[in-house]
Amino acid sequence: MKLNIIQVGLGAHGQGVGEHFVMPSPDFIYSGLVDINPNALAVYANKNNLPQSICFTDHEQAFRETESDAVFISAFSPVHYEIAKSALKHGLHVLIEKPFVLTVAEADELNSLAALHGCNIMINQNYRYFTSVLTLKQALQDSRLGKMLFVQSSFFYDHDGKPYQKQMDNYTLLEMSVHHVDMIRFLVDSDIAEVSGKTWNHTGSGYAGDPHVHAVYTTESGVSAFYLSSLLAGGVSMPWEGVWRFQFEGGSVHLDDLGDGFGVYIADGTTKTKAPMITNERESIHGVLHEFASSIREKRDPSISGKDNVRTLSALLATAESSRQGRTIHLSSTRTNQ
Ligand SMILES: NC(=O)c1ccc[n+]([C@@H]2O[C@H](COP(=O)([O-])OP(=O)(O)OC[C@H]3O[C@@H](n4cnc5c(N)ncnc54)[C@H](O)[C@@H]3O)[C@@H](O)[C@H]2O)c1
Repeated sequence: MKLNIIQVGLGAHGQGVGEHFVMPSPDFIYSGLVDINPNALAVYANKNNLPQSICFTDHEQAFRETESDAVFISAFSPVHYEIAKSALKHGLHVLIEKPFVLTVAEADELNSLAALHGCNIMINQNYRYFTSVLTLKQALQDSRLGKMLFVQSSFFYDHDGKPYQKQMDNYTLLEMSVHHVDMIRFLVDSDIAEVSGKTWNHTGSGYAGDPHVHAVYTTESGVSAFYLSSLLAGGVSMPWEGVWRFQFEGGSVHLDDLGDGFGVYIADGTTKTKAPMITNERESIHGVLHEFASSIREKRDPSISGKDNVRTLSALLATAESSRQGRTIHLSSTRTNQ
């Protein structure tokens, strides 16, 4: 039987995810649709022949008046916390778009509330379910190149930010690097222990929060990842996953275009081969929705739980803190309650 889900937030991303992932999902059926903008709500419901009776402009009312199992929060980032808090208080499982929330204190509070009410929180870090990223992970696991020495990653894009993005603190860190820093944790298979970072802006950018980020993330396993990123970089843009080099003692593994199209390459000093993409039946948010549903049915934590994702959030906010203070931030010293 399908689980009943309320989707809150039907802006550009919310509508696309709704149409291409939630509606075709074998695991979920809409029990509610919410947006504070009645036009966005009406456009989406009409386009997809969804009944007026499940449309709400107030999430509290939707949580109270529908028979639902779960909520998918795809409203813009600054309201994730208040909507998630309300959903958990109504005993609803919660899937939240990245970034989880804007502060570690908010994440900790929601994780405690979820435990209290027996609810799951999952974060839509959908890049972990990209075929390219899963192929890269497989290549790293299978590589016979010795010890991993360091990682280099970069991402450049000339993004036309949303009004809320133009006003938010830590713009690129929270809206974009959230994917790449989460990928470091996922691909190196180790949490981030310390961060030394710098974020900056330039005059006339139009953004209140810094669009440019440079950081070195060192994992608990001792691998340093050198990361450079910008959402305000005219010129050549990169694929959303970014470009990666994993340096080993005996060679390197790449996600890049090294002459035969964008993909995963393995180089051992004498040969360079492109790895075939793995078979992935549930690309991107199809994988996230399936894992979220399975975790609810199996009464277990989802793979990208709130408790897991607070570690990605901590590393991002520590990057901003490192930039402000001009020193390395050790994450263990900032996460005493984990
Ligand atoms: N996973 C990804 O790859 C990915 C990609 C793009 C965006 N996102 C995330 O998706 C979220 C939405 O992004 P977007 O591009 O659609 O933004 P948007 O500004 O286009 O739309 C946001 C929508 O949220 C609605 N909203 C705001 N407050 C609300 C509330 N209290 N209740 C109900 N609705 C409310 C607005 O009316 C608007 O329709 C952001 O958190 C963003 O970071 C994730």
